[in-house]
Amino acid sequence: MRPDYWLERWEKGRIGFHRADPNPLLVEHHERVLGGTIRVLVPLCGKSADLEWLVIQGHEVVGIELSELAARAFFDERHLTAERVEHAGFIEYRRGALSIFVGDFFAATPELTGYCDGVYDRAALIALPAELRARYAAHLPTVLAPKARALLITLHYDAEGGPPFDVSPAEVARLYERFTATPLASADARDDAPGPLARGATFVQENTYLLELP
Ligand SMILES: C[S@@+](CC[C@H](N)C(=O)[O-])C[C@H]1O[C@@H](n2cnc3c(N)ncnc32)[C@H](O)[C@@H]1O
Repeated sequence: MRPDYWLERWEKGRIGFHRADPNPLLVEHHERVLGGTIRVLVPLCGKSADLEWLVIQGHEVVGIELSELAARAFFDERHLTAERVEHAGFIEYRRGALSIFVGDFFAATPELTGYCDGVYDRAALIALPAELRARYAAHLPTVLAPKARALLITLHYDAEGGPPFDVSPAEVARLYERFTATPLASADARDDAPGPLARGATFVQENTYLLELP
């Protein structure tokens, strides 16, 4: 999937994935998964309201997002100004405990982001086709501290195509074999998944996991 695909979606306002309010699964599982973590990475963050919610919980929050439009919108919609800092290959929008790095997640390094001990993945892994999911799961630990913990939310369904793509529990176990993966919740998501249903899915599960690095 080419970066242009996402940049065009942001330019055309085709952002049906965006939610105005904090994700209920983040609110429910935050304490168990991310309680006690300091620096939380939010890969492929868009302009998610969850960034703000995580800052309010006291974390340092590091978002990574391809679209500069999305990063600017996050601050503009809250009538906030952010400092703009250029790095090699990235533009950082920084305010208080939040930095959104505009650029390619696969080029992110710990020198840029700092080592993160928490991760929040909602609609990041499932935004990527299979080949990129493998790269994503391999790259993620390179910016994480030992014993990092992640809250991962996926969709599992029985149809082709995406995004969002089907990510089965078996694939989560395979992609994150270096992590311990603990299922936390599984819910019927047919009412909130028009894409998979339109592509013929007969079931859609929203699955939530705790991932732990050794
Ligand atoms: C499905 S959206 C989810 C956004 C956000 N996580 C949310 O819950 O609203 C996927 C996002 O990933 C961004 N993205 C896709 N590929 C990326 C990459 N290689 N590096 C950084 N961001 C990327 C897109 O621009 C898009 O905003």
